[in-house]
Amino acid sequence: MSGKGLLAASLAPQLAALTGCGPTGGGPTIPHDPSNRYTFDFTTYPELGAAGGVLYAQVEATSGLVPVALVRVSQAAAVALAMICTHAGCEVGTLDPSSKTFSCPCHGSVFSETGAVVRGPAFSPLHQYATQVTASAIVATIA
Ligand code: FES
Repeated sequence: MSGKGLLAASLAPQLAALTGCGPTGGGPTIPHDPSNRYTFDFTTYPELGAAGGVLYAQVEATSGLVPVALVRVSQAAAVALAMICTHAGCEVGTLDPSSKTFSCPCHGSVFSETGAVVRGPAFSPLHQYATQVTASAIVATIA
């Protein structure tokens, strides 16, 4: 990578913040819970009640404000992903419903609905938080 390329990559998160290439998922801001356990019940968030549903939220985690995508990948399983690209820290876009992928606006990385790398330059998956699907909610542990 050239010096200019390296500089651009290292400044991508800051540039993203300045240019508005930042949070795209939006959604509710979830207040900090000292237990790091966040319950997304299906009454409040009906989009999570069935397979295929997605909720975007800004979680006031112990580590700071984290943009999170909760994806109900099946009736029995859900994932909670940090929407921060593992290449250089830009926030990825929302889930494309047709391809079921997240795309990063900065350098084009693409991730599956469970956070796996589909296309680089990122080579690490999106950070995934532990989740549990109950009869009435998805519980995510986000620190
Ligand atoms: S920050 Fe470079 S591809 Fe996402």
